[in-house]
Amino acid sequence: MKKRVDDLALFGGQAEFASARPIGQLAIGPDEAFFNQAKRIFDGRRLTNNGPLVRDLEDSLCELHQVAECVSLCSASLAIMVLLKLLAVKGRTEVIMPAFTYPGLPHLAQWAGLTPRFADVLPTVHTLDPASVDKVASQDTAVILAVHQVNSLCDVAGLEYVAGKYGIPVVYDSVHGVGCTCDGARVGGYGVAEVFSLHATKIVNGFEGGYVTTNDAALAEKLRLARNFGFVGQDAISQCGVNGKLNELHAALALASLESVGEVIRRNRERYEQYLRHFLRVPDCSFLRYGEDSEWNYEFVLLELSPAWKMSRDDVVAVLRRENALARPYYSPPLHLSPHMPEGLPVPSLPVTEQEAEKYIQMPVGELVDEDTIVRLAGLIAFMHDNQEDIAGRLAS
Ligand SMILES: Cc1ncc(COP(=O)(O)O)c(C=O)c1O
Repeated sequence: MKKRVDDLALFGGQAEFASARPIGQLAIGPDEAFFNQAKRIFDGRRLTNNGPLVRDLEDSLCELHQVAECVSLCSASLAIMVLLKLLAVKGRTEVIMPAFTYPGLPHLAQWAGLTPRFADVLPTVHTLDPASVDKVASQDTAVILAVHQVNSLCDVAGLEYVAGKYGIPVVYDSVHGVGCTCDGARVGGYGVAEVFSLHATKIVNGFEGGYVTTNDAALAEKLRLARNFGFVGQDAISQCGVNGKLNELHAALALASLESVGEVIRRNRERYEQYLRHFLRVPDCSFLRYGEDSEWNYEFVLLELSPAWKMSRDDVVAVLRRENALARPYYSPPLHLSPHMPEGLPVPSLPVTEQEAEKYIQMPVGELVDEDTIVRLAGLIAFMHDNQEDIAGRLAS
């Protein structure tokens, strides 16, 4: 409990939290579920190369997402790279994507030999604005990489309409959409394909890993070949490939993790509601709300400070981080204004993206954040609010 500004860790006081309170999910699930799955690996002596656990995992994920095909890979990043490479319309060079998203995406376009082009997002929901995509699209556009956001899924109909005009496919990065619904249908079957991550910070945890869902059997077959060097049978090569396989151990953790997805989402919602409740006493701030009309996974908690604050959003984050609360500015700076913008490209003007990137603090969440942490975070922000002029003055000097 801070009594004086000098008690803040940034000014030499003791950190509020003895260990880090991160922003990732970090849900592991019961040990027993994992060890039971892992035992199958040793019993069967099959460690990788499309083994039985990978196949079981893919079947379970088809059920979760209500799709015909699931192809696992060693990360969502590799899945996106391979998909872009396979789906880009031949002779065209550009991928349209949002700039208000995960910083790795432009690199993935570049690995696939394509150039990222950023389009603007819609306010508050933060998904690609179809009208902006239409403005950016041209005969050079090879594919659209749309990103479902944690609080809102893409305007699928709007994006498909624009894509139809240019004869290009839409791929959805659905890494933050596990368990969410779009117009009553579960995320997984939209566009040509959707991509998910099994990274340890995600809702379904496979240490590392990723997967693609699709209802296109021919595309699924190409992905299966691509993740295994393009091998058909013993030695024949059918297409350009890479080693993108998920191994059996990672599939074991992901299978175990799938057993508790519902529970993880329930706990996320509980944490989000605790934030809403305990921050009621903190003036001049609000949270980005999850709508009641759809199902969400409540993966992120996004705090917005009102313009009345004398401390900047980034200074509040800096204070929190020194207290071991690993908050961060949400998707800021946006990609077109960051080092992730490929050199030599004209920097577009994306007014909504730029405005939204100023707003939110991504607050600590996941299994290492309990209600006591949330109460203490509310206390910290209230303390900063009460002493904001003093703190801002010291930071400026
Ligand atoms: C929106 C989004 N896309 C892609 C990725 C990459 O996932 P992976 O770590 O499995 O490569 C991430 C990772 O956090 C992400 O947030």
